[in-house]
Amino acid sequence: MQTFLRGRDMITTQEWTRDELDTLLDVAFDLKRKRALGIPHAYLRDKVLAMLFFFSSTRTRASFEAGMAQLGGHAQFIESRTTQVSHGDTAKEIGEILGRYNDGIAIRQVDWGKGNQYLRWVAEASRVPVLNMQCDLYHPHQALADLMTIMEKLGDPRGKTITVSWAYASSYSKPQSVPNSLILLMTRYGMNVRLVHPPEFKLKPELIDQARENAKKHHAGFEIMDDFEAGVKGTDVWYAKSWGPLLTTLDPEEDRRITDQYKDWIADERRLALANEDAIYMHPLPADRNIEVTDGVIDGPHSAVFDQAENRLHAQKAVMALTMS
Ligand code: CP
Repeated sequence: MQTFLRGRDMITTQEWTRDELDTLLDVAFDLKRKRALGIPHAYLRDKVLAMLFFFSSTRTRASFEAGMAQLGGHAQFIESRTTQVSHGDTAKEIGEILGRYNDGIAIRQVDWGKGNQYLRWVAEASRVPVLNMQCDLYHPHQALADLMTIMEKLGDPRGKTITVSWAYASSYSKPQSVPNSLILLMTRYGMNVRLVHPPEFKLKPELIDQARENAKKHHAGFEIMDDFEAGVKGTDVWYAKSWGPLLTTLDPEEDRRITDQYKDWIADERRLALANEDAIYMHPLPADRNIEVTDGVIDGPHSAVFDQAENRLHAQKAVMALTMS
C-alpha cells in the first residue's frame, strides 16, 4: 500500500500506480462508511480548493464542493467566463497565483486539443496539486467512482466484462474523456473491456495502445467492436454513452451528419435483455433521455446511475484527503 500521496496531481489514473490506486479506493470506501455512520472526518480543516470551470457542470461542481466542506475545508467556485481568465490570465499565472491562495486547484477544460495541455501548464506552475475535473482526454474522478460502483455491485471486477459503448445523442458533441478513462482504468483492474463504436468514433490510438498494454499486464481482455448489439451480449456492465467523432471531423455540420446516421444506437430494454441477467447499466450523466437511453433502462432495476453519481463524492474526497493534507 502506498500512502505518501501528498502533493500529487490527479490528471489521469494512468499516472498512478496500482498500489496507489488501491490506497485511494480503500480510503474512498472508508470515507463512504464514515459519512454513512455520521463519523466526522475533517482531514482538510482550513484547506481551500480552487475549482476553475471552463465548461458547465452539475455533479462535478456539487460533489467537489460538498466533499471539501465534509473534509472541514472550503471550495472556491471560479468560472473562466466571469473572471479575468476570459481576458488573458495565462495558465502559468493561474498555477502560480491560485497555488499561492489554495491547497489544490481543480480544473474542467474540455476543449479538444487544449484541455489537457492547459491542466499540464497550470500543474507546471503550481506548488499545489492539480485535480482534473474533466479535460478533453480524461475524466479520472468519474472512472474512479465508476470502479467503486462496479466493485459494490459485482464484487471483484477481475474477469468481468464491461462494454464501453458509444450511443447516439443529439444535445451536443460530448468529449471522449469518459471512454478513454474507462478503458485505461478497467483494464488495470482485470476486466474484459469491449470498446464498441461506429467507425467514425475512434478514440486516440495512443490511448488504445495504453489500454492494450494494461490489459496484457493485468490479465484482462481488450477488444474493439462496431456492432452495438453484439457488444451487449453476455456483458456484466453496459456503459453506453455518446461522444463526438473528434478524430474524424471537427466541423460541427459534418459531425451532425455523421452522428445522425446512428440514431438507432439507443440503450433500450430489448438490448439490455441481451446482457447477463444481473448486468448493470451505467452512464455518467447528463444523458439525453429517450434518445441516448430509454427511461425504462435508466430508471429501471439494472441502472446504477445514482450510485455512480454518489460515488463521485467519496472518490474525490479520497483524492483530496490524500493529495492536499
Ligand atoms: N458526470 C459528470 O461529470 O457530470 P457533470 O458534467 O454534471 O459534472
